[in-house]
Amino acid sequence: MGQILLIDDDSNLREVAGFILQSAGHEVDAVSNGAAGLESLGPDTDLVLTDIRMPVMGGMEVLERIMNGPAEIRPPVIVLTAHGTVEQAVAAMKSGAFTYLLKPFARDELLLTVEQALRTRALQRDNDRLRHLLTNRNRDTGFIHGPGAMDDFLEQLKQVAPTDATVLIHGASGTGKELAARACHDLSARWDQPFVAVNCGAIPETLMESELFGHLKGAFTGADRAATGRIRAADGGTLFLDEIAELPASLQPKLLRVLEDRTVDPVGGGPAIPVDFRLVCATNRDLDAEVTAGNFREDLYYRINVLLLHIPELAERRSDIPLLWEHFTRLHGEENLASDPNLLRALESRPWRGNVRELKNLNQRLVLMRKGDSLTISDLDRLAPTSPAVSTGLPKPEETRSDTAAELLLGPLPEAGLSLIELEKEVIRRALDLCGGNRTKTAAYLGIPRHVLIYRLEKYAIG
Ligand SMILES: Nc1ncnc2c1ncn2[C@@H]1O[C@H](COP(=O)(O)OP(=O)(O)OP(=O)(O)O)[C@@H](O)[C@H]1O
Ligand SMILES: [Mg+2]
Repeated sequence: MGQILLIDDDSNLREVAGFILQSAGHEVDAVSNGAAGLESLGPDTDLVLTDIRMPVMGGMEVLERIMNGPAEIRPPVIVLTAHGTVEQAVAAMKSGAFTYLLKPFARDELLLTVEQALRTRALQRDNDRLRHLLTNRNRDTGFIHGPGAMDDFLEQLKQVAPTDATVLIHGASGTGKELAARACHDLSARWDQPFVAVNCGAIPETLMESELFGHLKGAFTGADRAATGRIRAADGGTLFLDEIAELPASLQPKLLRVLEDRTVDPVGGGPAIPVDFRLVCATNRDLDAEVTAGNFREDLYYRINVLLLHIPELAERRSDIPLLWEHFTRLHGEENLASDPNLLRALESRPWRGNVRELKNLNQRLVLMRKGDSLTISDLDRLAPTSPAVSTGLPKPEETRSDTAAELLLGPLPEAGLSLIELEKEVIRRALDLCGGNRTKTAAYLGIPRHVLIYRLEKYAIG
């Protein structure tokens, strides 16, 4: 038994074929043109029977839209054709139709062809399920960890990831919030649909509304064409709102409405558009406190804080540091590069205010700029010395090397007359010198992408 969508402008055919199929136990949805057919199409549709020539939208276009649409809404399509359009039926098969039926067709011929198509559909569904199970069987969350501090978090993550539940991830900068959000997506049934990440703190407030909700053509000056917006781009998949605490107050009610109604109102008006996504949010702030301080709407907070996952800081799981270090060494392309035990011990005792991201960046710097055949403590001392504040036990951020580098290079600032551009040029010149003119190493040393360095070198005519 299957759910069949029958599209034909001939009402007589709809009635007769519909009757035959229903008598055989199928559920039939019969419509008179392609556009109406596409509206009725859904994940539960098992089979489409479509005429080719119809007003509004013909069968070829229906077929094309189905073939290019999302994988889970791709039922087999049987084309119904009259004698004069056999050539088109053949073309339809080349475009992916399951088969065609010549009108007029006999009852048994119709039922037999439909049975075959439905069997194929069932096999295809089993196949998808198996493939999903296989790809996920050994798939993990992507977190490298030992036993201990991460246990609770990972257990909860594995439990909630496969569901459709809204998840709020809390953790300090660099602890792996985005990695956790991706795991929620990858381990869910939406894994082969889009994962759309929006950093609510990185987009200027004026652009944020149309970026998120989309806009109509002409909605504002410069909107010379319509845009879907990031929320609708996540349709079928997962929407990841990173740094949710930074979402401007003016947009908080609008997001709340999307979450309540599951529809989006594009900037500029028009009808609300239905959207289906799973929501994952992340923050490094105490959202409770933001609500109390009046910076974050309480009703929105309750909507997003359904399942809260907290990622411990790296300093609370120092025994993971050697594992992570080895992992990043391999990730940075050095399978066989050893690290000296003294180096590993020194790494374990650093403050790690920038958490795993800081460890990853530091690893990259050492891997690129090491002096010998292994990574040693002298590489660490040379490339990332702990500043005096740290060695006296005071915590000090050192996510990038710029804190220590700036102190080393600059000393106290002059009273007046410091040009940031001149300073930047000077730092780039010295870094180039230090790295023997090697641009890749210089970019890594400065913590910027290589193309950014090259752009600056050209802009300042250095090198
Ligand atoms: N336990 C881990 N195992 C392996 N890689 C990790 C782990 N934790 C974090 N990473 C990696 O470290 C980097 C930083 O992690 P991520 O971007 O997820 O952190 P974040 O919490 O989103 O940081 P921020 O607050 O700065 O945006 C990423 O490259 C991520 O893949
Ligand atoms: Mg992040």
